[in-house]
Amino acid sequence: MQPNHLILRREGAVGVVQLHRPDAMNALSLELMIELVDALEAYDRDGDIRCIVVTGGPKVFAAGADIRDMAEATVAEMVRRNQFARWERIRNISKPVVAAVCGYALGGGCELAMLADIIVASETAQFGQPEINIGVMPGAGGTQRLTRAVGKSLAMEMVLNGRFIGAREALSAGLVSRVVAAETCLTEAMRIAEEISRRAPVALRLAKQAVLAAYDTTLSAGLLHERALFYSLFATEDQKEGMAAFIGKRKAKYEGK
Ligand code: CAA
Repeated sequence: MQPNHLILRREGAVGVVQLHRPDAMNALSLELMIELVDALEAYDRDGDIRCIVVTGGPKVFAAGADIRDMAEATVAEMVRRNQFARWERIRNISKPVVAAVCGYALGGGCELAMLADIIVASETAQFGQPEINIGVMPGAGGTQRLTRAVGKSLAMEMVLNGRFIGAREALSAGLVSRVVAAETCLTEAMRIAEEISRRAPVALRLAKQAVLAAYDTTLSAGLLHERALFYSLFATEDQKEGMAAFIGKRKAKYEGK
């Protein structure tokens, strides 16, 4: 069944999820989030998909959680909804995820982009955590992931004062990996995803896991974790294939085994 607020398509081994709720600036309603998590998990399970691209529209990636969904909610209602459990499921997607961000990525939209492994921003991208303007604060990781990405002072300005930053500032602060012209943003993200999808799938998943562990562990624990994952890859056929292909001066063909 086609989702109501997403456009799904696949190009080769890349699965694309486009947020599509144009009448509400792609606000992340509860229904959209259910569809998004289902779509990402389906790609994660799909043996033919090796990398995922998440994108929005040309003017807005996503303007945050749906304010209308929350405006009248009580604490009990918010706790019952447990909506952030869904965000944890996005965090647990094991395949690489590339976000192509054009226009606004605000509140939950910025938090969603930060859950991706790589952010490609268009010149027109604007990142912000403006929840303070509506009497709340980020709730889907903004205070933690933004601070780790851009440092305390800029994160504080964005969280305490709702300041937006443009693509160039996001690049120099380390929030995004590259800035491209608006018309090429999705193409560029697709190109990166396609290149990633040609790499050894098991190594990709473990490498993603190891980089993410850098957020959670001490250096010593992270290094031990990395080493264990590195050794475990010697149990894969892809390791034998990759190294034999290098020595044989041919292209490796990875099966994800
Ligand atoms: N939730 C619900 N509806 C939203 C929305 C949101 N987050 N953002 C925009 N919309 C709706 C508007 O209500 C409007 O609907 P109507 O046409 O029915 O009135 C429509 O989208 C277009 O929006 P604007 O008229 O405001 O468009 P604009 O171009 O003037 O401004 C904008 C664009 C700067 C993105 C502005 O809409 C805005 O500031 N949006 C809210 C951003 C925000 O505060 N996000 C944080 C949400 S809370 C959150 O995300 C919590 C969390 O951590 C999970």
